[in-house]
Amino acid sequence: MPRPLVAGNWKMNGLNRDLTEARAVADAHPAPNCDIVICPPATLISRMSATLEGTSIGVGGQDCHHAGSGAHTGDVSAEMLRDAGADHVILGHSERRSAHGETDDDVRGKVEAARAAGLTAIVCVGETGAEREAGRTIEVVARQLAESLPDGCDGLDTVVAYEPVWAIGSGGAASEADIAEVHAVLRGALTERYGADAEGVRLLYGGSVKPENAAGIFAIEHVDGALVGGASLSASGFGAIISAAG
Ligand code: PGA
Repeated sequence: MPRPLVAGNWKMNGLNRDLTEARAVADAHPAPNCDIVICPPATLISRMSATLEGTSIGVGGQDCHHAGSGAHTGDVSAEMLRDAGADHVILGHSERRSAHGETDDDVRGKVEAARAAGLTAIVCVGETGAEREAGRTIEVVARQLAESLPDGCDGLDTVVAYEPVWAIGSGGAASEADIAEVHAVLRGALTERYGADAEGVRLLYGGSVKPENAAGIFAIEHVDGALVGGASLSASGFGAIISAAG
């Protein structure tokens, strides 16, 4: 099993003053038993990198453009994220897919850009509540996985996060049985497509991961960590999840 990864997605939260929360996480976990990444808004990446320099915590963006540069007002390229100090980037989050109309093709282009810039992509897949009720969960996540990932992925440049849309921010995570079912399918699909290169590709679960449910989720087969939204905003909550992973 790969070393677990616990990634915090701050979403559109965080000002200068909140960097102290990230620093507190680093100070409380000088030698963690898992990899840790914090993905703040783009405005904080540079200062977050400086704050966490010399610690074992990485920094990630929450999106990037597929192009390297050009006339794309308001967008940020993968190389810019890297230049600001990021080593990871979340791509294809359901909030990007729904609010910005991102398709699997769009996400795949961004993953390629991230890889070219030397970033590890955390690629999100997950069904909506309506898709789950219609019995389409496996079909949807398998399609998203197949079409959002380019050829040639491996554990160094790619992480996959299963995030059922209906569980995000809801307070209630998916059941352990549902997580186990989807992660087994994702693991099988990765192995089929990438062979031995897929072994190091970590499969995270995301969607209302909290200190109270983290240990149970980490114990599920094929769960290699978590993508944490709300609970990553405080050092105490995120720290408790990190402790549960190791
Ligand atoms: P949540 O968000 O932990 O607040 O549910 C997870 C995510 O959207 O990545």
